[in-house]
Amino acid sequence: MEIWADTANTAEIEKINALGILDGVTTNPSLIAKEAGDPIAILKRITSVVKGPVSAEVISVEADGMIKEGTKLAGIAPNIVVKIPMGIEGLKAIKVLHQKGIRTNCTLTFSANQALLAAKAGASYVNAFVGRIDDEGDDGFRLVQDILVMLENYKLQSELIVASIRHPWHVHLSAQAGAHVATIPTAVIEKMASHIRTTEGINKFLADWNKAGKEYKI
Ligand code: G3P
Repeated sequence: MEIWADTANTAEIEKINALGILDGVTTNPSLIAKEAGDPIAILKRITSVVKGPVSAEVISVEADGMIKEGTKLAGIAPNIVVKIPMGIEGLKAIKVLHQKGIRTNCTLTFSANQALLAAKAGASYVNAFVGRIDDEGDDGFRLVQDILVMLENYKLQSELIVASIRHPWHVHLSAQAGAHVATIPTAVIEKMASHIRTTEGINKFLADWNKAGKEYKI
């Protein structure tokens, strides 16, 4: 499973990238809005740090505007993937951008039917926003399973991104389900690395070592 960071904060991205586990990044207008500075400059910084796919979302809501904006965003760097919100206008844009050889990430998808249409339109990635679905009292991972079965049934080329991840267990479930990508807030990535028993174990080892007055003379 690919691990992507769901952030536009370059410092956070560099910190996680240093672990050697980062395969890509997703941004969205809200994540970009949190960061100071020009959006294009932010995206240029991110694409210079991360070699994998970096999703940059259009702001236009009409197909023509999405296509124009998406084409310009794709020109920022070879690893830019253009994020297009799901809908009739988005599907029109995805189809045209696909024909132009531009990779797209169809976002804000909350049903298998939406993912099916996006995949057939040529989206490189479709999403399951599990946290937002769970927030509504439904089961985000039922959608993950439904989309994966659908993509496999018809050998559709799109890959599934599990998005809107709220905690490490969402990542566990994503990997168990066989999702292609999990896009994860950096705080959750860091939480994945920790466990209370690990911390306790390290502290016990060090206490025993120091109590015995041991030292590596190397
Ligand atoms: O960036 C796409 C998605 O992961 C954001 O989801 O629910 O955390 O805003 P959310």
